[in-house]
Amino acid sequence: MSSTSATAPSLRAAFEADDHCLSLRSGERAIDPSIEPMFEQLTGLCTLPSVAQRVIQIADDPNADTQDLLEVVETDPAVAARLMQVVNSAYCGLRNPVGDLRSALTLLGIERVRSLALTISIGGTFGRPTPVGLLDPQRLWDHSVCVATISRQIATRCNACQPEEAYLAGLVHDMGLLFINQHLNSLAPRVLAHMQSGMSLPNAERHVLAFDHAQVGAYVAWRCGFPRDIVAAIDYHHAPAACPDEAVPLVRVVTIANYLSTRYGRGSLEGRRLPAPSEGILTPMGLDLLSLRQLWEELPETVANVHELAIA
Ligand SMILES: [Fe+2]
Ligand SMILES: [Fe+2]
Repeated sequence: MSSTSATAPSLRAAFEADDHCLSLRSGERAIDPSIEPMFEQLTGLCTLPSVAQRVIQIADDPNADTQDLLEVVETDPAVAARLMQVVNSAYCGLRNPVGDLRSALTLLGIERVRSLALTISIGGTFGRPTPVGLLDPQRLWDHSVCVATISRQIATRCNACQPEEAYLAGLVHDMGLLFINQHLNSLAPRVLAHMQSGMSLPNAERHVLAFDHAQVGAYVAWRCGFPRDIVAAIDYHHAPAACPDEAVPLVRVVTIANYLSTRYGRGSLEGRRLPAPSEGILTPMGLDLLSLRQLWEELPETVANVHELAIA
């Protein structure tokens, strides 16, 4: 699993694959072949920290156990130290502080500790300085952790998908925005100008770049070895009704969480508004407008301690 491997599949291979990055191939959002070199170059620049990549491998390996996770985390002392800080913070809500990662694993479980390790490792990527850009990376990180935490809450409430899988999908759903901001930030003013004249962010991106942040995020996630359903959740988080496969519950969870977080003022861009989820998204999840309102009223508590995961 390497995001920069010389054997990484080409964009054309993604077009031809049966079960990855479906939006790349489908009608309206198909990528113009003429911009393939730029897209390839951009995705080649996007890498995740090695700890994050190895934690994702563990998540996808049914034979991996707590010892494997401990060994990976301990290869990066900064990640291990920050992990202990977060484990003992209000975000995790442990009754008594723990002194070592093995105890944290016993109390929180491997899935939860794995999510925290990924959060800390990926958070370092968001914190890189960006002189000019479409957005504030700190704000994008806060949005990502809010959407992750709300996604976990919705998945638990609706029993729609595995809560930690929902957390991870929420955490990385907008990582394409980060990559565009880091590598194509000179085009940001044009994207913003289209948004100011009423275009949605994905449409403005497609107008200027010929692809949108969901597509580039999904493509990079695929190349980094993220599980297939996470790739789909990134790909379709702004178009859940178009998702054609069984990843749909996860896509719906992230779409609803993204809406709630943005409406609550914790969006990726200041002042951004998103359309409310339709009945077609809510009903299959066993949700309606009343339960959406309940989730909304619980938001202050749901995201109360998200600041504990701020980039250190
Ligand atoms: Fe997005
Ligand atoms: Fe978002």
